[in-house]
Amino acid sequence: MGETVGEVTLGLAEQLATDLPELSPDEFAIPQAETALVCGMGGSAICGDLAVVLAAEKGYRLDVHRDYGLPGWAKKGRPLVLAVSYSGNTEETISAAKKALRLSLPIVAITSGGALGTLAEGEGIPILPVPTGREPRTAFGFILRRLVFGLAAAGIVTVGDDDFSEAVQITSEILRPGSASWNLADDLAQAIGARVGVIYASTGLTAPVAQRWKTQINENAKQAAWVSLLPELDHNEVVGWSALREITRSHLAIVSLRDHGEHEAVARRFAHTRSLLEDQVIWAGEVWSQGESALARMLSLLAIGDLVSLGLARYTGTDPEPIEQIEYLKRKLRVDGD
Ligand code: PA5
Repeated sequence: MGETVGEVTLGLAEQLATDLPELSPDEFAIPQAETALVCGMGGSAICGDLAVVLAAEKGYRLDVHRDYGLPGWAKKGRPLVLAVSYSGNTEETISAAKKALRLSLPIVAITSGGALGTLAEGEGIPILPVPTGREPRTAFGFILRRLVFGLAAAGIVTVGDDDFSEAVQITSEILRPGSASWNLADDLAQAIGARVGVIYASTGLTAPVAQRWKTQINENAKQAAWVSLLPELDHNEVVGWSALREITRSHLAIVSLRDHGEHEAVARRFAHTRSLLEDQVIWAGEVWSQGESALARMLSLLAIGDLVSLGLARYTGTDPEPIEQIEYLKRKLRVDGD
């Protein structure tokens, strides 16, 4: 029997630490780029969201495109396109890669094979291969490592070996059963319980991690979850908690993702927002990032979110593995499209 989703999820640090000896930049014709576009969906796209933060640190523009085709600006903007699909069979991502080919844009594929792998081989597109045989969301570390490699080769991000080492060291400690972070994640999972998890984060470094928390809670625990970002939520959502207090107090729990690099005004907003809403919703708690580099800080929060999603599954007796609805829709669309 293969490893469970839970077991593979706990292998994040090992995935990040995996050497990429076969992926020397000299062997891959990845051109220097001024801008890049990560095309992918779900568990494959989320790495792109983290990479946006890394590119911004270096002053580069990176967007994530979760749709068919390409955004209108791609024709003139001529980004490097990174088509990321773990299975290689996600139709939106294949559509994006085909559109990029029609526009003669530089493309790199990150995949374990499938139709995207076949397309890339046929068209001479460089492939950064990902190990096969997993659920896409459990290959996060493998995909991120390759995405950063591709973007670094294009000059869009700079992530030093030290940053990766720090991220590996911090995430392996967090994911060690019985660690302080492990226990924190357990407490958070109990506090959220069978409620809808609302993840509050701030624009920038914690926002992409909040999205991963949401999707991991959705897929591993089969529970609803949503993300809201400061400062924006202070301009609308805070009003929306008042009318249905009976429902919000019993069925929603907020977790805040915090980072020591967040804007000082955002830090104040977290405090005032919490005191404003404390009567109207349950606060499950807050989690602070660990580490120095942006990569380590993001991945530390991400690892705790992964644990929370698995903890929720455990408390509700849910098997993290199946994602029947996603597979049903993929099958249905494939049939309809034929
Ligand atoms: O978690 C999942 O399984 C999904 O979100 C998939 O990642 C998504 O459907 C895209 O599939 P793939 O990652 O194989 O391109």
